[in-house]
Amino acid sequence: MIKCISCGKKYGLDEIIYTCRVCGSILEVICRPEVSREVFECRKFTMWKYKEFMPVDESKIVTLEEGGTPLCRCQKLEDKLGIELYVKVEGSNPTGSFKDRGMSVGITKAMELGVDAVGCASTGNTSASLAAYAARAGLKCIVLLPSGKVALGKLAQAMFHGAEVISIKGNFDEALEAVTALANEGKLYLLNSVNPFRLEGQKSIGFEIVDELGWRSPDRIILPVGNAGNISAIWKGVLEFYEAGFIEELPMMTGIQAEGAAPIVRAIREGKDDIKPLENPETVATAIRIGAPVSAKKAIRAIGESGGYAETVSDLEILEAQKLLARTEGIGVEPASAASIAGLIKLVGSEKIDKDEKIVCVVTGHLLKDPNIAINACKQPIEIEADVEKLSQIITKN
Ligand code: F0G
Repeated sequence: MIKCISCGKKYGLDEIIYTCRVCGSILEVICRPEVSREVFECRKFTMWKYKEFMPVDESKIVTLEEGGTPLCRCQKLEDKLGIELYVKVEGSNPTGSFKDRGMSVGITKAMELGVDAVGCASTGNTSASLAAYAARAGLKCIVLLPSGKVALGKLAQAMFHGAEVISIKGNFDEALEAVTALANEGKLYLLNSVNPFRLEGQKSIGFEIVDELGWRSPDRIILPVGNAGNISAIWKGVLEFYEAGFIEELPMMTGIQAEGAAPIVRAIREGKDDIKPLENPETVATAIRIGAPVSAKKAIRAIGESGGYAETVSDLEILEAQKLLARTEGIGVEPASAASIAGLIKLVGSEKIDKDEKIVCVVTGHLLKDPNIAINACKQPIEIEADVEKLSQIITKN
């Protein structure tokens, strides 16, 4: 069943619905399978390892074997920060971001419903992922992108997988409003994270983290927050495993936003349960350049219920954390993903995080998503002839 998170109105799983027809609030899928933890044993490590928790017909799934991403222990950062740290590398998904988990379930649902066109607004990754999964399913795909604000790798993916890419003169929030209107007119099936089936796939990040830690919850999960779907999804995942009796503790959900795009941090500081939209969000981390996050209510609830925290980081802190992770641990992530590491550093510095905590930072997208940022952050290569003497002079000098 699908249920409104505010008034509790229930809808059938086969209804095409994005917000509550009674009160206008956002929806969630209720999923309570009766299985024991043992059913997962010996299964391949993809997100479909937990298929009983996915509310779609398992014989019809559209998959690129997403999920099953690495959980890397980060010893050098641990030494620097004095905590126990694991990084969940979502850039290892088929299209290079966590969105693939949500799209696998979302596109499977689209096939079940028998729609022929899907669409989204996106800061980049959602469109890249949707384009790939729509191609695999043979569906028409329309994506609306904020003009000039989508990183090159993501744009290349959306175009190359055959989506109809439309550049909107406006920001993500305006593009989302436009595509939602198209969806409400029945012109396409909307696969932004307001669609509750998207979050059903993304909750598997939570499943995998506790599974990989030996059926134990970390003390805290830290992740970047944009449209706020992912933090809500991960919380839903760990909560479902907790309610099923698979784990005995829950993590403190900690959301990080860029200073110029932080409506959720502001709402939490003001003690509100919903955001006031921000007109002109701005940050170097274009993936999270969002002023009116759709899943804000769910995210604020997740942070509150879990005893977590919300913090902002500056663009400079994001870029420094991105480089630090790449150069000390070998993990290449896009700027938005580095917000989780920047947030961790800031919260350890301000003693909001205890030194004895076991922490998982979710890094959401691959470094190559935004090659311009990476190249501009580095000293450019020296060009010389392939002369051994000159080469050895340069190498010793550097
Ligand atoms: N990190 C990356 C790399 C993202 O692409 C996004 C969102 C987020 C974090 C934030 O996740 O929205 O669930 O809070 N990108 C969306 C997109 C908005 O269109 O690709 P969220």
